[in-house]
Amino acid sequence: MAKNTFTLTDNRNGNSYEYNVIDGTRGPSVVDISTFYKDSGMFTYDPGYTSTASCDSKITFIDGENSELRYRGYDIGDLAGKKSFLDVCYLLMRGELPGKEASENFDLEIRHRSFLNEGLIRIFDALPDGAHPMATMGAATMALAAFYKDHLNLEDDKQFKIMRRRIVAKMPTIAAMAYRNSIGTPLIYPDVNRYFTENFLYMLRAYPGGTMKRLPDGTNEEIKQIEVDALDAIFTLHADHEQNASTTTVRNVGSTEAHPYVAISSGIAALWGSAHGGANEKVMDQLKMIGDIKNVPSFIAKAKDRNDPFRLMGFGHRVYKNRDPRAECLKGLQDQLKEALNLDSKLLDIAAAVEEAALNDDYFKDRGLYPNIDFYSGVILTALKIPVEMFTPIFVIGRTPGWIAQWSELKQDPKSKIARPRQLYTGN
Ligand code: SDX
Repeated sequence: MAKNTFTLTDNRNGNSYEYNVIDGTRGPSVVDISTFYKDSGMFTYDPGYTSTASCDSKITFIDGENSELRYRGYDIGDLAGKKSFLDVCYLLMRGELPGKEASENFDLEIRHRSFLNEGLIRIFDALPDGAHPMATMGAATMALAAFYKDHLNLEDDKQFKIMRRRIVAKMPTIAAMAYRNSIGTPLIYPDVNRYFTENFLYMLRAYPGGTMKRLPDGTNEEIKQIEVDALDAIFTLHADHEQNASTTTVRNVGSTEAHPYVAISSGIAALWGSAHGGANEKVMDQLKMIGDIKNVPSFIAKAKDRNDPFRLMGFGHRVYKNRDPRAECLKGLQDQLKEALNLDSKLLDIAAAVEEAALNDDYFKDRGLYPNIDFYSGVILTALKIPVEMFTPIFVIGRTPGWIAQWSELKQDPKSKIARPRQLYTGN
């Protein structure tokens, strides 16, 4: 039987180098080239890591050809909208879905850990009105490390658990306070009587004193369960995505032994980029810029023009060269919510026209460019009365359990080393 190895031959001098092939439980195998530089005096070269596995992981599996996404083995279609986001957080961090009692205890602990230290809240005052909530969230999350110097003994599972749960619990509060601070309205504290996702909407919408908007008939505009369920599913769809740019950033910072919360703040920084999580905000800008279905062809032409840096936001993906299963889930959610949330049909029609035009155009088909998660989330978030500058913060809230689960896996991996790639030097 053939050896499970891979041989590289240097045709300049006939030298051959043999390396072990390691098979995963699913997906592509890897060639372990960790001794290649010692063996050959050369580096491998892979800008953007298109063909490079940085680690092994048990958390998330993606099959980009067959539109498959699994968290700890569970298909995303069996989780989004079917399990609570908090149960999915538990699954990602602990590796299994919680039973009824564990689920209730986890929910209760998250509610009680959702508050921020008063000293941390004063940070918001230092930031100007109009500050983008992502800038404020990054600063506040980094500052958490100044307030939480405890629970860092990762040998102690109890401390480890508290450290992970804290950041998941506090992220919605940081996001909501960052937004309210940016528009100059008083901050709303968490309400322990409200489930995670409802609590976030409450902290965004409530009036000072905690009452909801008063309606002409004398009642208050309470948060609807359908709004909570829609946002809960959106959080789940964003919860993890193997070694994407922001998760790689969290792992790289984690590899230097920095505080876990500064690693998460670096993930926020990376996610903000418009090529990554910042795309959801840009998709809405683009749909509004297109403005009418008759303008779609000219935008498609711009996106195809190699001399024009313009790209169709919400299209394309490094891994999915077929449909993004999360986009499919969101599309299904849009159809369910169309009437109930009175989705903006004009924006929906423009989005459908862009998708239709792109999916029938060889430029996109040849490059495997399909709508990704960011293409659809914005219309639903708009219907939930979420302001566009809060779209990427929503992504942060959803991705935080994935980031902290990946960071934890790195810390528990005996093979992990400080991330330190090399380069091809082309200078003087
Ligand atoms: C996320 O990695 C993850 O998992 C990320 C994410 C997660 O959950 O963490 O899924 C979240 O970041 C989703 C992606 C959101 N970003 C956008 O929607 C921004 C628009 N998309 C692109 O910028 C781009 O598609 C990327 C960044 C998403 C992927 O870039 P790649 O894999 O490096 O692909 P590429 O730039 O090499 O493009 C391949 C070709 C190029 O054309 P050619 O050189 O072959 O002629 O496709 C073209 C690109 O010009 N192309 C596009 C395009 N995306 C790629 N052309 C027009 N519009 C686009 N959107």
